[in-house]
Amino acid sequence: MSSVLFKNGDLVTPAGVLQGDLLVRGGKIAALGGELEAAADAETRVVDASGCYILPGGVDPHVHLELPTPAGPSADDFESGSRAALAGGTTTVLDFVTPEPGQGLLEALQLRRAAAKRALCDYGLHVTPTRWDDAVADEMRRCVAEEGVTSFKAYMAYKETIGLEDRDLLAVMDAAAKLDALVTVHCEHGDAVAYLQRKLLAEGKTAPRYHPAARPPETEIEAVGRALLFARLTGCALYVVHVSTEIAAVALGEARRSGQAVAAETCPHYLLLGEEEYDRPGFEGAAYVMSPPLRPEEDRNALWEALRAGGIQAVGTDHCPFDRRQKERGRVDFTRIPNGVPGIEDRLKLLYTYGVAQGRLSLPEFVERTATGPARIFGLYPRKGILAVGSDADVVLWDPEVEGVLSAGTQLQRCDTSIYEGFRTEGAPRLVLLRGRVAVEEGRVLLEPGAGEYLHRSRGVLSL
Ligand code: URP
Ligand code: ZN
Repeated sequence: MSSVLFKNGDLVTPAGVLQGDLLVRGGKIAALGGELEAAADAETRVVDASGCYILPGGVDPHVHLELPTPAGPSADDFESGSRAALAGGTTTVLDFVTPEPGQGLLEALQLRRAAAKRALCDYGLHVTPTRWDDAVADEMRRCVAEEGVTSFKAYMAYKETIGLEDRDLLAVMDAAAKLDALVTVHCEHGDAVAYLQRKLLAEGKTAPRYHPAARPPETEIEAVGRALLFARLTGCALYVVHVSTEIAAVALGEARRSGQAVAAETCPHYLLLGEEEYDRPGFEGAAYVMSPPLRPEEDRNALWEALRAGGIQAVGTDHCPFDRRQKERGRVDFTRIPNGVPGIEDRLKLLYTYGVAQGRLSLPEFVERTATGPARIFGLYPRKGILAVGSDADVVLWDPEVEGVLSAGTQLQRCDTSIYEGFRTEGAPRLVLLRGRVAVEEGRVLLEPGAGEYLHRSRGVLSL
């Protein structure tokens, strides 16, 4: 495998930015900092990194590629979605295993691993218990011991399909705690949401604008409080996905400061888009239907602040795109609109532009929230998410001078809309390496399907 020497870049680590070089050899980071001399062999490619930042490849802890739904699978499969991830500077994604009714966790995991084999970037899987019995406990144990799956997912919403009753969530957390595994939780009060959806539909309120009315902030806030309580009672480490409200973010930050093993994630759309998107004309608001829904500006400001101050530790995309044709399923009933939006390709550009360039995040905070933090929390550190000797050479050469505009017409992620249509961006990857291989150069993705590897993960660490 050839070597690459980056010369004169700004190396961004969670601890700070150092001026210097970085040497990649044998798929790993071999040396960094100061002035490194190119190895004598002619194999070493020297890259002038001056004027650019050198970042660890992004780690997106929350994506749904080819997620089966009644509206058909989410529009990006493992091949197209991971290609878009790489184009945006993300070299590792964590997707989900959601068993069909009656299917075991391990059977579902093997099927998902087979589908994911076409990925171009590295990937891991969280496993979702959708019911509880002793067989589930044993399967969870085998997921950890045999498959390197050290995180599970539980839904407090969607109780008619994959969501768990409280007693079952407690049992899953209890089992995970005994395995030293993490439980990631989708926190919305499922019964309250279902009640509000029925009520709104009975009143003839069927349009996308009623989606947020069925999922008001209290449905998230209450569920976050309950998940925190259950995690405390069971001694389970908790990761709350896609936090959308100020009050939930504050509660999570307080729990963490009080010593509870908890981490939280938000998504670019909760930082950058507001509930007014649902008032778009006709059925256009459907493109913005995700759960929880978009919130008012005060929440967005508070989420930025929590991200900066450490109340929220990670930014995942919850990438789950659906084409217009698929969203049409809910034309006369907003509850039938498939939930989810794209973002896997946009995450780093958005966080850099509206975070770093606008002074809301420092460069080390940007790297911590989009790469190092997710890697640490999900048992991939220090192999992933950090520029360190011995780590995988997942490296992004980030040119802060490149300007662009996001648009459905130019994106690689497979979706015929972009919720960020017309958003201006600053900064873009000029070169992306995956384990030392050139994955992206000047906007072109060069790896082939199957280049990604399945990641056996170790136990995650929630504290810094
Ligand atoms: O709206 C969302 N979040 N869609 C993705 C699937 C899920 O709920 O996690
Ligand atoms: Zn999700």
